[in-house]
Amino acid sequence: MCGIVGYIGSRPAVALLVNGLKRLEYRGYDSAGVAVWEDGRLAVRKSPGRLAVLEQQLTARPVTGSLGVGHTRWATHGEPTELNAHPHTDCTGRIAVVHNGIIENYRELRAELEQQGHAFRSQTDTEVIPHLIEAELAAGAPSPEEAIRRALRRVQGAFALGLLFQEQPQTLYAARRGSPLIIGVGQGENFIASDVPAILDQVRRVIYLQDGELCALRADGVSIFRLDGTPVVPVIQEMTLAAKAVDKAGFETFMLKEIHEQPRILRHLLLQHAWQEDTVAMPGLGLGAPYLRKLNRVMIVACGSAFHAGMYGKLLWEQLTSLAVETDLASEFRYRDPKIDPGTLVVAVTQSGETADTLAALRMAKSWGCKVLAICNVPGSSVVRESDAVFFTEAGPEIGVASTKAFTAQLMAFALLAIHLGRARGELGAAEARASLQAMQAVPDAIHYVLDRAEAIRRLADKHHDGPSSLYLGRRFNYPTALEGALKNKEISYQHAEGYAAGEMKHGPIALINEYLPVICLCTRTRDEVYAKMISNIKEVEARHGRIIAVATDGDEEIVRLAEDVIWVPPLRDEFSPLANVVALQLLAYYSARARGTDIDQPRNLAKSVTVE
Ligand code: F6R
Repeated sequence: MCGIVGYIGSRPAVALLVNGLKRLEYRGYDSAGVAVWEDGRLAVRKSPGRLAVLEQQLTARPVTGSLGVGHTRWATHGEPTELNAHPHTDCTGRIAVVHNGIIENYRELRAELEQQGHAFRSQTDTEVIPHLIEAELAAGAPSPEEAIRRALRRVQGAFALGLLFQEQPQTLYAARRGSPLIIGVGQGENFIASDVPAILDQVRRVIYLQDGELCALRADGVSIFRLDGTPVVPVIQEMTLAAKAVDKAGFETFMLKEIHEQPRILRHLLLQHAWQEDTVAMPGLGLGAPYLRKLNRVMIVACGSAFHAGMYGKLLWEQLTSLAVETDLASEFRYRDPKIDPGTLVVAVTQSGETADTLAALRMAKSWGCKVLAICNVPGSSVVRESDAVFFTEAGPEIGVASTKAFTAQLMAFALLAIHLGRARGELGAAEARASLQAMQAVPDAIHYVLDRAEAIRRLADKHHDGPSSLYLGRRFNYPTALEGALKNKEISYQHAEGYAAGEMKHGPIALINEYLPVICLCTRTRDEVYAKMISNIKEVEARHGRIIAVATDGDEEIVRLAEDVIWVPPLRDEFSPLANVVALQLLAYYSARARGTDIDQPRNLAKSVTVE
């Protein structure tokens, strides 16, 4: 969602702020702005649209100074206009604030402040913060710190904040509750950022600000307090991400780079966890065998692509263990009455570890006494910090808004954990585990095989991209693959796409089939008992003159007779076939988007990490 960068030191702040914001561009935004302490006053520049527009403004009306905050906004309250862009200021322009999150009681606070005579300029929830602080200072708060504390005690909702005061040229303030914020610790300079990539090329040491903390940064040090004023001893950590992990490495987009990274990432996960013949190594997992043996129920919660990974995980865990496994959308789970007891393991699947609904579901589960296992890609994220156990997907920073490598790493995580659970619970024999592990080792090469055929997939996308809609069909393990393929397509190419369980065709969607509709059928074959059923479903489409694009196993003659076009994948065991099949669908979506001329890394209206409900 929104991005925050702040700087205090001796270098020109604007270049560092813009550089940091550029590195957060992938999160999605619709306006941007900076505030810089310049010659005794706060200079603010903001503009709707892309960062390039703000940069033009900064060239036309430059600001100098070595203390500043910057922000990219993803509109929640109020249109993406210049007035609604951050930073927001108080009535006098002496306090500037950038904010991520949502102030839930802003209407009441705004009404109260307006009654006191405060003049608001924007429609945002954020603007109440500088006015509240201004009011607390006017009411006698002895310092800006105390005014921030008093103001934030009145605020309900989530926030990560960067704050500047005209009267405080030596201090940058930061605070958080609910939304992530990090402090970058440099030599004679310090940074704040909402996400690591923003400052990765500037500092190697970071402090993860905790919920309910307020930080005062000077050029030569930081002081951290709880919002009640209690001092906190900062814990400085070394960053492990290499700066190059946030470069395109010669690819035309981050998404294409990330699609190509998949074989390496999955091979790495296999090397880490699957180096023994018939067991999986999970040294840092944090769930012991006695707990796993007693377990009888699992609830997987997630959103979007991570939810599709959870659907796959359910099928695999049910197949290899006696566990009863359910998967739910975190946004639905929050509002139902799921009859969960402390004996249930809740699995939170999330790339970012900051998705608001997943985090809320996790907190609910913990309040019921359940243990939570996170499958997550971001160390130090909120979900990681609040879970009892973590499986790190180790896919590296995912910059493209549409998830690719984090998704396949989640599938691999479920596959490895399935074997671990089966073995720990004594339900999976050594021979079966060995066979599964051997089959998994073939996955990275199978993905290479698909990537090597990218050009053929591009030609297919060029042929089929211009229709209004497409349908994706799959069964069993490839039903989640169909949903994920359709999601990728609509996210980046803006073509309506629907994923369906192929067996449901006759119950409605078959009405859509005509000679124009591309129907992408996942029909890979090894020993899959649903293969024959899938063939029948394809014949139903054929009989109604649908345009069949099959994803099929190399050498399958039957498919050639039925389909207009085929994307070939090598043979994999059924349960692991989604890992290669989905890569074919990622490429299909990618090249359709390219043919349709969309902004692939930053599709419209989307944000990388959905930190609001
Ligand atoms: C789709 C996509 C989203 C995310 C979803 C959950 O390509 O990226 O659907 O999967 O917003 O995000 P995380 O995994 O960060 O919780």
